[in-house]
Amino acid sequence: MTAVHLPLIRMNNHKKPNILLVDDEVHALKVLSAILGESHYNVCCADGVDKAKEILARERIDTVVTDIKMPGKDGLYLFHSIKSEYPNIPVIFLTAFGTLDSAVMAMSEGAFFYFVKPPDYVKLKGILAKAVEQKKLKDEVNRLRSQIESTYGLSSIIGKSPGMKDVFRMVEAVKNSSISVLIGGETGTGKDVLAKAIHYSSQRHLRPFVAVNCAAIPHELLEAELFGHEKGSFTGAIARRIGKFEEANAGTLFLDEIGELSLPLQAKLLRAIQEKEVERIGGSKKIKTDFRLIASTNCQLDKEVAAKRFRVDLYYRLNVVQINLPPLRERRKDIPLLVAHFIDKFSERENKEVTEVSSEVMNIFLDYSWPGNLRELENVIERALVLARQRCIGVRDIPDYLMKDTENDSTACEHTVKPLKQLELETITHTIKACNGNKSKAARVLGITRKVIYSRLKEIDQPSVN
Ligand SMILES: Nc1ncnc2c1ncn2[C@@H]1O[C@H](COP(=O)(O)OP(=O)(O)OP(=O)(O)O)[C@@H](O)[C@H]1O
Ligand SMILES: [Mg+2]
Repeated sequence: MTAVHLPLIRMNNHKKPNILLVDDEVHALKVLSAILGESHYNVCCADGVDKAKEILARERIDTVVTDIKMPGKDGLYLFHSIKSEYPNIPVIFLTAFGTLDSAVMAMSEGAFFYFVKPPDYVKLKGILAKAVEQKKLKDEVNRLRSQIESTYGLSSIIGKSPGMKDVFRMVEAVKNSSISVLIGGETGTGKDVLAKAIHYSSQRHLRPFVAVNCAAIPHELLEAELFGHEKGSFTGAIARRIGKFEEANAGTLFLDEIGELSLPLQAKLLRAIQEKEVERIGGSKKIKTDFRLIASTNCQLDKEVAAKRFRVDLYYRLNVVQINLPPLRERRKDIPLLVAHFIDKFSERENKEVTEVSSEVMNIFLDYSWPGNLRELENVIERALVLARQRCIGVRDIPDYLMKDTENDSTACEHTVKPLKQLELETITHTIKACNGNKSKAARVLGITRKVIYSRLKEIDQPSVN
């Protein structure tokens, strides 16, 4: 069989899809290869299953068109091995009447299509085009998934310090269970990032990650946001709306700043966690929803419990596993890594060839107390990168206040003149820190609304540089 003369393998055009034809009758291969080769395909032929598998291992094949009955291993054998090794590749069968039943069966197992020999070539070309399109879409989905995994998965989290190693160990231990996780840490330590990383490295990663910031949504709207509502259940409810609990079904619900939840909503949340079902506002039936809960807080929830602002039963429910992100000043070892990471991130975006910070700048970074944690460092690098005129970020590219700060002398910078915006930002981050991360309390202390705090913190994320 190996002595037969096969049509040439023509896979030289990288833009065209690659089709693999498999048939033990060389004449049939020649005819089909000539017809398809004239269309928009690179065609590759195999006169048996072993040869086909060899080609599959070597080339990027987009669709396989195969005969069923062949001496030795048959087309069904080939189909099953493609299904397990290359699940994205569609398989189209060409079959004689005698093997029609097998072809129909293979369709129910996921074969793309079958034709009785001799096929209608116009129809075959149409089906082939659809198969190739499906393969392209599946490849694209895979590409996007691995991109999401590298952007949001555990590998996206930078950190080699002992504190971060503890965090990684905890995440590895709990990522595939459905147990609730409570993430603690000061503002800007990476709680959002960690919640996403747990989801995208868990078994639920193909399902939705639904995030709700309990502090950013006014209390009166939060209930409808979480539980959804039926049409007409209150003024303004003009249509039925699915709540976040339902949206997160089979995936992960991330409740950011859970300490901000009002007591009545805490009671409803506890019920939803325990019963795994919710009722929309104005609705009467219970809706099952299987979500994995991750909550985050930057205030000490046990203190909130002691002050009777947080339900103790809910606290114990959430606190089964607690992962605390260390503040940046306690993981200084990570600063050089983070600096390199943020330089990479922004130099690409800004299209600038900045590659490092001077040793003087690095020493300043290592000495500074970073009350705004990673967000503040990220912001400083972003700003420096925009200002930098050389490959190396120098002292003149970083804000003055970084040099005046020492942990013991937090008022040292009060006597220097600074831009108003910067003073405002520092005041906000210091107050949040002084309030143990409780942004509502910080807002009360400063006499501003939580909304203002949020919009300022957002500005740190997306600074406007003149
Ligand atoms: N380990 C990390 N590696 C790289 N970047 C990180 C890491 N942790 C956080 N960041 C970056 O730092 C910034 C702040 O992170 P994030 O928003 O997750 O903090 P947070 O703890 O949720 O803050 P807040 O309490 O204010 O909501 C983000 O821009 C994020 O991309
Ligand atoms: Mg956050």
